Amino acid sequence: MKRQVLLFVSLLSFGPVFGQVSYSIPEEMSRASLVGNIAQDLGLEIKRLISGKAKIYSRNSDQYIELNRERGVLLIKERIDREALCTEKALCALDFQILLENPMEFYTVTVQIIDINDNAPTFEKSEMNFKISESAATGAKFDLERAVDLDVGINDLQKYELKPTENFGLKLHSNPDGQKNVEMVLLKPLDREKQEQISLVLTAVDGGEPQMSGTMQIFITVLDVNDNAPVFTQKTYKATVTENSPKGTVVATVTASDADQGSNSKITYSITNTLDNVRKMFYVNEENGQVSLIETIDFEKSKRFQINLRANDDGGLTDSCKLIVDVLDVNDNKPEINIMSKSTVISEDAKLNMVVTMINTEDLDSGDNGNCNINTNIPFLVSSTSNNFFSIVTDSDLDRERASEYNITVTCSDEGVPSLSSSVTLTLQISDVNDNAPVFERSSYEAYIVENNTPGLSIFTVKATDTDWNQNARVSYILEDSSVNGVPVSSYVSVSADSGVIHAVRSFDYEQIKDFYFSVKAQDGGSPPLSSNVTVKIMIQDQNDNPPQVLYPVQTGGSLVAEMVPRSADVGYLVTKVVAVDVDSGQNAWLSYKLQKATDRALFEVGLQNGEIRTIRQVTDKDAVKQRLTVIVEDNGQPSRSATVIVNVAVADSFPEVLSEFTELTHDKEYNDNLTFYLVLALAVVSFLFVTCLVVIISIKIYRWRQSRILYHSNLPVIPYYPPRYSDTLGTGTLPHVYNYEVCRTTDSRKSDCKFGRAGSQNVLIMDPSSTGTMQRIQSEKSILDEPDSPIEITNHKKVKQTI
Ligand SMILES: *[C@@H]1O[C@H](CO)[C@@H](O)[C@H](O)[C@H]1NC(C)=O
Ligand SMILES: *[C@@H]1O[C@H](CO)[C@@H](O)[C@H](O)[C@H]1NC(C)=O
Repeated sequence: MKRQVLLFVSLLSFGPVFGQVSYSIPEEMSRASLVGNIAQDLGLEIKRLISGKAKIYSRNSDQYIELNRERGVLLIKERIDREALCTEKALCALDFQILLENPMEFYTVTVQIIDINDNAPTFEKSEMNFKISESAATGAKFDLERAVDLDVGINDLQKYELKPTENFGLKLHSNPDGQKNVEMVLLKPLDREKQEQISLVLTAVDGGEPQMSGTMQIFITVLDVNDNAPVFTQKTYKATVTENSPKGTVVATVTASDADQGSNSKITYSITNTLDNVRKMFYVNEENGQVSLIETIDFEKSKRFQINLRANDDGGLTDSCKLIVDVLDVNDNKPEINIMSKSTVISEDAKLNMVVTMINTEDLDSGDNGNCNINTNIPFLVSSTSNNFFSIVTDSDLDRERASEYNITVTCSDEGVPSLSSSVTLTLQISDVNDNAPVFERSSYEAYIVENNTPGLSIFTVKATDTDWNQNARVSYILEDSSVNGVPVSSYVSVSADSGVIHAVRSFDYEQIKDFYFSVKAQDGGSPPLSSNVTVKIMIQDQNDNPPQVLYPVQTGGSLVAEMVPRSADVGYLVTKVVAVDVDSGQNAWLSYKLQKATDRALFEVGLQNGEIRTIRQVTDKDAVKQRLTVIVEDNGQPSRSATVIVNVAVADSFPEVLSEFTELTHDKEYNDNLTFYLVLALAVVSFLFVTCLVVIISIKIYRWRQSRILYHSNLPVIPYYPPRYSDTLGTGTLPHVYNYEVCRTTDSRKSDCKFGRAGSQNVLIMDPSSTGTMQRIQSEKSILDEPDSPIEITNHKKVKQTI
């Protein structure tokens, strides 16, 4: 500290006051610092001071200054603080007196205290807090606390400084009291979002040397104003969701931020779509912006959603964004099979690659639709004509006879993982084509029929089958034209067109025909018809229908043939041989000969096999001339048939002997002729009466028949049958008889007739009624007696056979 000693001595008056001295010292001098050399300044000697017991007299200042009598100086007794001593007075001085005794005198001393800059400007508070809305307008003023500097003058507060100066400046107002108010002025608008807390330092500076300052912190809290809208982090969000995701699945989260604070930054999210169904499908959590599903989502209905979202802060400011949700396909749809067109029937002669069915498939899922297949082992295949269009075509030849129906199962599967498929079954009928001829069950047929059958008898049945269907398989049997022995075969047999039953048209005679062939055609009903042939062989079986026929000896009514046996004949003499034939065959024609009756059984025997009549003993004279043998000829049929023949044997050595013997026979004949005459007469009478009656009856019948002619009409086929046998006569007469084969073709009974073969007049077998209808001879009425030396007539033997 610079000591300032202001020596001012004034001796204005003496008396009680002998002098006055002033000193000027800076404040805050340390203790014992010299204030002033009072002895020197007052002109007093140290001794006087001591002797005078100099002391300071003061009412209030003695505590600061003390008097050192020995040195004659004034010293600082206690540090002097001007501000404490004088407060704000600009002029500050200590006034005291120095009293001396012996003599008593006093001196006035004034010590002026000079200010030094020992006080810095100070603020009452070290900090000030403000809350200023960010919307505060520029120019707004905020009062600041003043700083105080106890120093005076230049040492007093001189100016303020505010730092930083970005938003605020200072303005000073001079108050009437000379004090200066300080204000803070908003120079630039605040932005809470940029700087919420502003810290300023206000510095008050004085003018002392060295300069001193005081500071105060100013804390400004910028209050929020809803001056910021929410802002989404993206304008467009993208998200994907797989279809069929469960409800509640979070699709995406949108986020908006608001730079404001508090409720001004409280964001509420919402969906703003109106027309579409987005709000039915999606839900946004209004607080956290999570977008989730509230419905199951179907790719097949919507593949993409655009969700418009809005963010609101509480102050009503908004922002919006889009959320694009792409739906991911899941293979949840089977392919759908549509039959575009199909044939239910296809001909078995269909060509290859003929389209049977056309199919279209559709899969609602995305991606490739996959492929279609059909079951294997059928003559069809699937070909793809273009995308999603398939056709089923024939792949190989069809044969209705092998398979008349196909079940085609079409299976279409997609290419998803796992793959889904669906199938449909089509039934396809194969229609028939006449591609199969009838086939006889056998390659040839043989049948037997016993002769003398009834015409119309069914012999047997041929059967042919046709593997085709319906009309194409309807087999008709047709007798092929051919001739048997020059006669059309149709006059032998007929074939029933429907049933294939072969009927005999006529009665067969084994003796005339033993077998014959013909051909039967089986023809189906197709167009054109197909046919096949089979050969049929009919074999006629023999029946024992013919008795043996005795060819020799020839029998006549009068039995006039006789064999001569000389009386000299030896044992075993061959008398004659009975010759018989049987037109049947086999057993039926195997003849045996037996002697039935004989005048003398002991004389003759008949060879069983050969019919030879031989003597079995020596002929004696006693033996009658006239021997009569009855030989029976039997065949071996079942039942057997037989014929008897009378063999007259004359046992004589000479012809006259025989003649005389047989004359009786002539008489007998005359007798017989008489008897015959009477019989014929009686018969004639009876016959006449009978015929008369017959004529009358027939006349009546004819009359009635004419009346009822229309009514009497029948279509029933009546096949009269006249088995061949000997016609009988009325006794004496003989009627010509031929073996007749009747061919009776009859459609109307009234027109029925049988044609009899005409008998050749000379080739007729004649029957003698007296010999039970078994004798035969030629028709010429020559008596054996007319030609006695040629008694045996066998001339027409061969012709008889021919007639047969
Ligand atoms: C085809 O299916 C039907 C009905 O299931 C069946 O009756 C028929 O026998 C089947 N046909 C073939 C050839 O499998
Ligand atoms: C059947 O036989 C007839 C005559 O014998 C002949 O003309 C025809 O060609 C034959 N048909 C067949 C299919 O054999």
